[in-house]
Amino acid sequence: MVNYAGKVVIALNVNGDNVEVAVRPSDLLLDVLREQLGLTGAKPGCKNGDCGTCTVMMDGWPVKACLVLAVEAEGHEILTVEGLGGTAPVQQAFVDANAFQCGYCTSGFLMVCHAMQTHYPLLPEEHVVEEWLESNLCRCTSYQEIRFAVQKMYEKKDIR
Ligand code: FES
Ligand code: FES
Repeated sequence: MVNYAGKVVIALNVNGDNVEVAVRPSDLLLDVLREQLGLTGAKPGCKNGDCGTCTVMMDGWPVKACLVLAVEAEGHEILTVEGLGGTAPVQQAFVDANAFQCGYCTSGFLMVCHAMQTHYPLLPEEHVVEEWLESNLCRCTSYQEIRFAVQKMYEKKDIR
C-alpha cells in the first residue's frame, strides 16, 4: 500500500484481473467497484449491512461490499456479478424460476447462491439454504421463487 496525495494505492484481483486503484482510507469497496471500476452490478441499498443488494464474493465467501473498506480488500480476490459472465448456472436458474421482478436485489442473491453452490456442491438441507438466503432481502418477488431457483441451480452441472 502506497501513500499518494491523501489516498492509498491498493492492489486486488477483481473478476480475475489484477487491478490497482487509489482510494481514500474511508472509501467503501462497494463505491470503488461501482465508481472507479465501473462494476455497477453490486447495488447500493441500505448501506448498513441489512439488505444484501451489494453482495460480492471475497476469497470465495459472500460479503456485503457496503461493510468492507476498500483498503480491507487489498490483496484479496473479489468476484462480482459481472464476473459470472452471464452463463453461471445460478443465472439461468433465476431466469428459469422467474425469481425476480424489479431486479434490484437480484445480483446480491445471485452472488449468495453462487457462493452457496461453491461451498455445497450438492443441494444442502433446507435449513442451510434458509441460512444462506436470510442475509438478503427482496421487496417485490416471492422468496418461494428464489428457493425454487436454488433447486434449479443444483440441477445444472457446471460450477465455475
Ligand atoms: S447496501 Fe449493503 S447490505 Fe444493504
Ligand atoms: S426483485 Fe425487486 S427487490 Fe427483489
